[in-house]
Amino acid sequence: MRYVHLDSGVLHRGELILVNRDHPLKQEPGPSQRAELAPGCELTRQAASMLKPLLAETGPGIALVSGWRSFDEQQQIFRDSLRAHGEKFTRQYVAVPGCSEHQTGLAIDLGEDRPGLDFLRPSFPDRGPCAAFLRRKAEFGFILRYPAGKESVTGIASEPWHFRYVGRPHAWEMERLGLTLEEYVDYLRGFSQASPLHVTLPALERQIEVPFGAFPCKETYEIWFVPAKRGESLTITLPDGRGAVLSGNNVDGVAVTCPEVTA
Ligand code: DAL
Ligand code: ZN
Repeated sequence: MRYVHLDSGVLHRGELILVNRDHPLKQEPGPSQRAELAPGCELTRQAASMLKPLLAETGPGIALVSGWRSFDEQQQIFRDSLRAHGEKFTRQYVAVPGCSEHQTGLAIDLGEDRPGLDFLRPSFPDRGPCAAFLRRKAEFGFILRYPAGKESVTGIASEPWHFRYVGRPHAWEMERLGLTLEEYVDYLRGFSQASPLHVTLPALERQIEVPFGAFPCKETYEIWFVPAKRGESLTITLPDGRGAVLSGNNVDGVAVTCPEVTA
């Protein structure tokens, strides 16, 4: 076992941070942490590096509508929407500034590429390349963040166009169980290092850079939760010789995602 010391900021960064009206974003990604997908459309480097091959798989016909937004941009969008559509619509479809997933650089709005695409509610139908995207997204670490029927959990209306990067094993497990990020963050609290969650998913057919390199046939992961207190540093233990991806949940702990050693 080895000890890893983490600063108090770990709670608020990583691919699993929960950002919603109850949990504002604490740390915006800096320019060096972001990558440009197209002029004016950026995501974090890791999210961009997974979205690109996913879009290559689904083929042409999907437009990048809105990726990373600064606090000021979110505020402008919120104000413009209030003026144009009123309070009820705005609270359903636009996150309060400071509480938008777009500010994390992990979320993107996509739309069917055709003239007149709406900026706030782009069309993303379950057909053609959009349907292919929906089928393959979890393999590349993306989830549909605001599904129909979960409005009371997410606090946002159904948004078929808004996708969030959470990492491959997490997206796979969330999709398998039909959980929103709010529900998955809660679900992970039930797993400890002594009794971790095991997730197995098929390897990507394409050779792309995934956190632990490309695996030959399938990938398996152990995932567990470590409670953390706001403003306090944290020490965790990891098995020798195994890498891990750490992510805060932006609420009360850190998820450790560790590739399982298989024969
Ligand atoms: N449309 C989503 C909720 C946002 O504004 O972040
Ligand atoms: Zn969005």
